[in-house]
Amino acid sequence: MENEFNPFLVTGYKSALYFCDRKNETALLKNHIKNNKNTSLFAIRRLGKTGLIQHVFNSFKNNSAIACIYIDILGTKNLKEFTNQLATAIYTRFPENKSIGKKLIGFIKLLRPLVSYDSLSGDPELSFELGEARQYEKTIQQLFTFVDQQHIKVVFAIDEFQQILEYPEKNTEAVLRTHIQLLKNTHFIFCGSDQKMMHEIFNSAKRPFFASCTNMHIDFIGTKEYTAFIANMFAQHKRKVSPNAITFILEWTTRHTFYTQYFCNFLFSANLKRIEQIDAQNMAIELLKQNEGTFYQYRNLLTAGQWHLLEAIAKEDKLYKAHSKQFIGKYGLGTSSMVTRGINALLEKEMIYYHAGVAKPYYEVYDKFLMRWLQQ
Ligand SMILES: Nc1ncnc2c1ncn2[C@@H]1O[C@H](COP(=O)(O)OP(=O)(O)O)[C@@H](O)[C@H]1O
Ligand SMILES: [Mg+2]
Repeated sequence: MENEFNPFLVTGYKSALYFCDRKNETALLKNHIKNNKNTSLFAIRRLGKTGLIQHVFNSFKNNSAIACIYIDILGTKNLKEFTNQLATAIYTRFPENKSIGKKLIGFIKLLRPLVSYDSLSGDPELSFELGEARQYEKTIQQLFTFVDQQHIKVVFAIDEFQQILEYPEKNTEAVLRTHIQLLKNTHFIFCGSDQKMMHEIFNSAKRPFFASCTNMHIDFIGTKEYTAFIANMFAQHKRKVSPNAITFILEWTTRHTFYTQYFCNFLFSANLKRIEQIDAQNMAIELLKQNEGTFYQYRNLLTAGQWHLLEAIAKEDKLYKAHSKQFIGKYGLGTSSMVTRGINALLEKEMIYYHAGVAKPYYEVYDKFLMRWLQQ
């Protein structure tokens, strides 16, 4: 059964069948959409923000009164690329054979985009050559206004939204906010992984988006829900995983969704009919071996001091008191200010994250496999 479909996805979204839990989050986000609320969605990388949005959008697939449009702006560098991506997403969402699509084609042609086709997927890509930033601002407004006037509810999800802070056009936040507040049938989900920047955009009283959205946060999937999901996915393929094996997987990956999915995907592909805890443990060793190249690459990005600090944080699992004598002494980290500088550098490089949204905040290594490797 070499080509058997692996039910543990490590990229993208397929359908509700392969999606674990998130029942409350799904209901909440759908509720925001139904009640015309804009949402800002925060969480660390690889926890399942994009998956959740796709899951919610998928549930509206057959609802002709709501059009969902998703764009990921991580790869965009300026307002021009933002505009191109927005126009392409709208153009792709409303095919020409529908009445909105016909109107859209007429309208888009007035904006004179270049239309090209991706050589691999064949998907259309729109791009504008307008010169000044001011003209892109206007085009964005025209695009939003157009969709808003189509007597249909439109929901835009703009993923990796903090990317707008990298644009040379420093007024992008203000421009978007101004356009957005004029819309009546169009609503937004702003999603981002850089928690600090997302927090700045949405919760700083001095900034344009302040109080414009309802904040939503997603956390780790519950142990009970993930256990049932893993057991069920294996059972559907006539395999048995012992409860101890699942407990081991969830602890070892800390239920950080991508890493848990990746582990299960790897384990599934080993084709064992019965999986005991020892099999899962062996898989963990194997998995670290296979990823060693990546870990050495990480090391090349850091100074010796930063690497040593990273190792210390990994060994603590969760680091609650970064400046305690106990922590600094145990690993010979020098002074408190050296630790501060090191932590800032590791945060900046996204080697660690700060989990602030809990009663006792802590630092943790971002990549769970790297964390386990450093602990060896
Ligand atoms: N609820 C879920 N059940 C199963 N797999 C999920 C779930 N949420 C996310 N994933 C998977 O985990 C990985 C990371 O999720 P993603 O949504 O891309 O994270 P984020 O957008 O927060 O960085 C993806 O490969 C996705 O397929
Ligand atoms: Mg994402």
